[in-house]
Amino acid sequence: MILSVYGAGYVGLVSAVCLSSMGHKVLCADINKQRITRLNHGECPIYEDQLPELLKQQLLSGRLSFTADTAHAIFEGDIHFIATGTPSLPDGRADLSQVFTVARQIAAQTRKDTLIVTKSTVPVGTGDQILALVLDEQRQVKSDFKIDVVSNPEFLREGSAVHDFLNADRILLGGDEEALKPLQAIYQPLADKGIPILNMSRQSAELAKYSANAMLACRISFINQISRIAEQFGANIEDIRVAMGMDPRIGEYFLQAGIGYGGSCFPKDNRALIHTAKELGINSALLEATESINDLQKEWVFEKLSHHFNNHLGDKTIAIWGLSFKPDTDDLREASSLVIIEALIKAGAKLILYDPVAMPAAKEILIDSTVITWSESAGDAIEQPIDALVIATEWEEFKNFSLNTLAKKLKEAPLIDGRNCYKLSNVASSGIHYYYSVGRPLIETKRQTL
Ligand code: UDX
Repeated sequence: MILSVYGAGYVGLVSAVCLSSMGHKVLCADINKQRITRLNHGECPIYEDQLPELLKQQLLSGRLSFTADTAHAIFEGDIHFIATGTPSLPDGRADLSQVFTVARQIAAQTRKDTLIVTKSTVPVGTGDQILALVLDEQRQVKSDFKIDVVSNPEFLREGSAVHDFLNADRILLGGDEEALKPLQAIYQPLADKGIPILNMSRQSAELAKYSANAMLACRISFINQISRIAEQFGANIEDIRVAMGMDPRIGEYFLQAGIGYGGSCFPKDNRALIHTAKELGINSALLEATESINDLQKEWVFEKLSHHFNNHLGDKTIAIWGLSFKPDTDDLREASSLVIIEALIKAGAKLILYDPVAMPAAKEILIDSTVITWSESAGDAIEQPIDALVIATEWEEFKNFSLNTLAKKLKEAPLIDGRNCYKLSNVASSGIHYYYSVGRPLIETKRQTL
């Protein structure tokens, strides 16, 4: 049996490589010819832990191959996994055009009874739409092969996607019992490891995926809102988080205060869910608050800098450590760093930027800016005199950076830590003069002289 996977982005590529590592024959198609050529040469186009090694290994096994010819993948495939992108449209809706295009092509070109599996994150009801357009396409081309449509959403985190695929908390299968049987067989190696497989209706699976992401995003916005209150009273959000998390009804995860969530999923999926609710005339106040609190939280760094320098940022040189939306990825989509950079440039500041892996991607986005200096290392970024250091992403190398060295380099410049990388007690004994962190008391060991 051949599994065709459409889309060699984060979800498609990780799924294709992992399905192959489970012993299946996989053909992964993408319309980006350059990407396919690189992949067939064993070059991994994304920064993702374990993926480059596993990709090479699976290509060598002969089970995995890539093609830029969608028709070929349709002809060869017995089961078709759609993993194309679903970016946000300007009104927040998910753009399903790529998903629909592939589904129509499969309907028109398959020469056998088959199964379409949606792996892309799609709004509830999309499976019904796919089924309707599949039937419509079949009518047009006079094809009467039996095509079922099922949902199999993923819960992969960037940076640990391979691990998450092969060690999932659960596998979600949505569709008719009969249609899901081949998928159950495909995932049997993971079920044998004790991973639960949940069967439900297609609509439930689609909505479960969005709900999981919206819930996680909501927890982050919740703790960020509380952190604003904590700051006003000199309370410590870390203590509050521990106290809350010990209640098993709440749990400790995804309550890390910071400068907001980014990435390719939470912002986009929450917006799409808001749109779905609105279309149905259902109140979406909680989802909207999640989003607006997050937008506000991305301004936290600029607020602190403006406050520290009495709104005079024009002549300041600010170093920023961390550009990716979270550590262990080079992804900058909806990254908080970009909001900070834009605000600081607008205020007339000069910037020194450093990220362990996201600099090439950042340079592409910020190519036109003349006020940016790119650094070779974290140390390099603070070598020349700076007015402030901002931490926007909690990379391990920042967390492990010597606070004594930092204190010496910063002199009287404040450290604005948007990810709470350091223990307050360690900062207090390091000689750092001003330390701002999210939802925790300000450490101020020297009066500011402006
Ligand atoms: C997320 C989901 O975790 C995953 O299940 C889904 O399939 C895709 O979306 P990802 O976007 O890779 O994965 O990142 P994740 O690790 O969940 O973090 C998302 C954002 O939330 C990051 O910007 C991170 O910094 C932020 N975050 C996370 C917090 O601010 N606080 C937390 O406690 C956790």
